[in-house]
Amino acid sequence: MTAPARVAGPDAESSLVWDDGALVVVDQRQLPHKVELLRLESVDEVIGAIRTLAIRGAPAIGLAGALGVAISAHRHRRADGSCDEPLVRADAEKLATARPTAVNLAWAVRRVLTALEGGPEAVLAEATAMLAEDRATNLRAARRAADLVCDLVPRRPLRVLTHCNTGRLATAAVGTALGAILELHARHLVAEVLVGESRPLLQGARLTAWELDQADVPYRLCVDSAGAAAMARGMVDVVLVGADRIAANGDTANKIGTYGLAVAAARHGVPFVVVAPESSWDPRTAGGEAIEVEERPAAEVIGFGGTAVGPLDARAFNPAFDVTPGELITAVVTEDRVFDPRRDAPAAGRDAARQLA
Ligand code: MRU
Repeated sequence: MTAPARVAGPDAESSLVWDDGALVVVDQRQLPHKVELLRLESVDEVIGAIRTLAIRGAPAIGLAGALGVAISAHRHRRADGSCDEPLVRADAEKLATARPTAVNLAWAVRRVLTALEGGPEAVLAEATAMLAEDRATNLRAARRAADLVCDLVPRRPLRVLTHCNTGRLATAAVGTALGAILELHARHLVAEVLVGESRPLLQGARLTAWELDQADVPYRLCVDSAGAAAMARGMVDVVLVGADRIAANGDTANKIGTYGLAVAAARHGVPFVVVAPESSWDPRTAGGEAIEVEERPAAEVIGFGGTAVGPLDARAFNPAFDVTPGELITAVVTEDRVFDPRRDAPAAGRDAARQLA
């Protein structure tokens, strides 16, 4: 569906909105060459959009999951105004497991289900409240991360390396790591952003480059395998990335390639900062080894945009994410705090164990 003028759709504020019983999102598979809207009116459509990465990025898929439950609650409204709970819970389970790694998805679905007793309107009110909260969360985390980067790095202006897309497309507002980059840019502190392509689906090249271009932030695409070389040449002052799931000890799952960047950053003394909402923490997971990493189909590696780049029957190792050990992370910045895994992990592990006991 190409964006018709009449349809309320994602705007400068947010890339996903609720419009009269439907979730309207920018179809991220089409960017940067086409800006098309998808109007999702059923749970299966929401799940399909999450699985195929039309909607992607941990906070955004969480919000889509929550609004998917609202769609289900409206569809399963009983005559007395309540929801048919078992049917909504069954849809919620399918939504929560549409992708396995980003903990925001299950978290958001669990949270809207707490409103189920209040009926479809209460579920929708909870889901739309989460949209508004995500905006506020983004801004607070972005400012806190920008402050931290200013403290950590003396050089001005800054050269930043980022990976994947953590911006407006991945959240309901300015984004997490990309939000921090935009905040630094607003402070006139950014010389250049090196944007990792983020193969195979090129979230960096297609989406982050597009967002930076729109915001007039100077950037260059960085071949995925050139991140370490850029650091070795002294071209990077700080690495800023997002997260899909942060274990209690600070081990962080993020787009495949993040771990390699963290190893290179440690080797070259470059601060490596993760920016994420509190909802990306998973206190139920003690360490990164327990995080389930999504494996994507070989077809994504064998070809792109309809063009084959390898033998059609090639097998592939195509994990969507990797896990960076907390000991390689300088800080995890959220809307509420700055967490230094090397300093704070033992206490966090004890707290998590207590909560689970
Ligand atoms: O597979 P994707 O595109 O959903 O992966 C997204 C990432 O890895 C992001 O860095 C992460 O979700 C943080 S988005 C604020």
